[in-house]
Amino acid sequence: MILNLFANSESSPQWREELCPEAIVLRGFAMPDGADLLAALQEITIQAPFRHMMTPGGFRMSVAMSNCGGYGWVSDHTGYRYDAIDPASGKTWPPMPAVFLRLARNAAMTAGFANFEPDACLINRYQPGARLSLHQDRNERSLDHPIVSVSLGLPAVFLFGGLRRNDQVLRVLLTHGDVVAWGGSARLRYHGVLPLKPGYHPLTTGHRINLTFRKAA
Ligand code: SIN
Ligand code: FE2
Repeated sequence: MILNLFANSESSPQWREELCPEAIVLRGFAMPDGADLLAALQEITIQAPFRHMMTPGGFRMSVAMSNCGGYGWVSDHTGYRYDAIDPASGKTWPPMPAVFLRLARNAAMTAGFANFEPDACLINRYQPGARLSLHQDRNERSLDHPIVSVSLGLPAVFLFGGLRRNDQVLRVLLTHGDVVAWGGSARLRYHGVLPLKPGYHPLTTGHRINLTFRKAA
C-alpha cells in the first residue's frame, strides 16, 4: 500500500506550520542531526563553557549561554552586544561546526529565506525553571536576514508575539528537532520561552538546548 502522507495538505505539509507570514515552524527538521549537533556542542563548550550572563539591569540570566562563529552575543552591565571575543577567555569564539552551518542554511532555505549565511550562533542551555522573557532580536547590524532557532532535548513552550510587547502571544510547544525561522515582516516579533519543566531526554538528560543562528555583522 502506498500512503500519501500529504493527503490533506497538498500545498502545506503537516511538518511546516506558519505562525504568521514569514515565521515558520519546521517540525522535526533537525532530528536527523540531533546527535551530531550535540557532539559538536561538547567540543565548543570545552573552549567556551556555558555561563550565566548578567543583564544590563544587574540580574543573572537563568539560561546558561555560550556561542560559536565569528561573533557571539554577550550581555553585561554595559548592555547587549555582539563581540568577536569571548570575555571569559579573551579569545575568539570557537568556529561554527560544519553540521551547524549546513543545518541553518537548509532550514532557512526551506522556510523561504534564501542565501542565509549566519556568522553567529547563540547557544542557550535551559535547566528546569530557566526562562527567557519576551524580547526582540535587534542587535544584528542588518535586519534583512532571518533568525533560525533549533530546539534540542526537553520540550519547552515558545512564546511568539507581535511587533509590540503587549500584542497577543502564541504559545508553541517546541520539541527535540523542531526549527523555527522568522524574518522579513516578522523579523522583530517579540518572543520568549516559559520556565522549563523538569524531565528526561536521552540526548540532553535534564536540559533543553536551543541554537539560534544569526547574521550579526
Ligand atoms: C532566543 O530567543 O534566543 C532563544 C529562543 C529559544 O530558546 O527557543
Ligand atoms: Fe531571541
